[in-house]
Amino acid sequence: MSPATGAVASAAPGEESPAGTVLLGRYELGGLLGRGASAKVYLARDLLTGESVAIKSFPNPRASGGAEEGRRPAAIEREAAILRRLRHRHVVRLHEILATRKKVHFVLDLAAGGELFSLVDASGRMTEDLARHYFRQLISAVRYCHARGVFHRDIKPENLLLDEAGALKVADFGLGAVADGGNLRHTLCGTPAYVAPEILSRKGYDPAKVDIWSCGVVLFVLAAGYLPFNDASLVNMYRKIYAGKFRCPSWFSPALRDLLRRVLHPNPDARIDADGIVAHPWFCDGASDEELARLMVGGHEEAWFKPEFKEDMAREMTAFDILSFSPGSDLSALFGAGPGKERVFVSEPAADVLSRVEAAGRKEGYRVRREGKRGTGPVYLEEESGGIVAKVSVFKLADAVCVVEVVKGDGAEAALFWTERLQPAVKPPVLS
Ligand code: ADE
Repeated sequence: MSPATGAVASAAPGEESPAGTVLLGRYELGGLLGRGASAKVYLARDLLTGESVAIKSFPNPRASGGAEEGRRPAAIEREAAILRRLRHRHVVRLHEILATRKKVHFVLDLAAGGELFSLVDASGRMTEDLARHYFRQLISAVRYCHARGVFHRDIKPENLLLDEAGALKVADFGLGAVADGGNLRHTLCGTPAYVAPEILSRKGYDPAKVDIWSCGVVLFVLAAGYLPFNDASLVNMYRKIYAGKFRCPSWFSPALRDLLRRVLHPNPDARIDADGIVAHPWFCDGASDEELARLMVGGHEEAWFKPEFKEDMAREMTAFDILSFSPGSDLSALFGAGPGKERVFVSEPAADVLSRVEAAGRKEGYRVRREGKRGTGPVYLEEESGGIVAKVSVFKLADAVCVVEVVKGDGAEAALFWTERLQPAVKPPVLS
């Protein structure tokens, strides 16, 4: 989506501005922030909370004439499915989706700080330290997306925005893809100067490696002020990309040169991956292990979604789990497990508890999703936008003796749902 925010763009001549329109009684549209091939992004205000948001509006492809005008329904649904999967400090988050007869609107985090590129100096670059600061945030986001099976496929400066606090936000997953069981992709994607050589050879590519390449081009541009592979002729530019030959400017440190040689490696099999980048001396330089670990997590909610975490939660609780839940073997720690988390002992089968949890979620209008094969969950209760209200897992201690663990979603709604509906469902009052 280009240009991004910072300044509000004006509507094209003859184009009607929707500023002042209130969508579904909730979001008041403001100025145009940017436009892409198939969507426009507007500043908007949530009349309920007073918060500013960004609204990305597509022509509704289900409206008559929509298919020719805008994107296919599948493309919008794919972008929505991708955004719903992602909840990370450095990724623009989808709050909800609204649809009217003519339009589909994604309500998104507002990146109020404009494009990352607004931070370059008069010579078009930033210091190596500042480039490292933002590259770390970029890799944190990309690594998270890849772990969730999501690939951006169009990482470039226009899609790297800043929030009001100056933190990086990766935006626009309109060309994104989700993992499809390891098949190589053939779709031609991306922006010429940022495109990886294997895309040009059309032999199929691994989208994770393509994203890493584009991150390398972004890093080079931030620190150099110009592109690593460039030519007035597109064919010559592609030749240079294909050969993977570039020259670093004299001011690049040896460690940065070394990292870039590994990231911009023309052979995808020899290219460094996100984990390799995180371990590289240039990337780590000046940061403590704790800072790097915090950066790589990106937010407490991430752990919920890690496949290995889900797998963990699906198994029965062992004696080891009980001890690690309650340091010093003090079993009282099993009750009320700290911020955002609750643990409750119940003396009934896991299936009964989870059925009540599911019923409570449905009654409130949440989407209910049960995972795991052993009937112990977790059960996810989700808002329409994909935001998680609660995740409930049951650990079986013995037949009909369980610990129910509830991880609550953020915000007042999730807290209220816990006290009003979920807690009584997890542990119904004992009738005398
Ligand atoms: N341009 C594209 N997406 C945006 C967003 N989420 N916030 C601000 N400007 C944008």
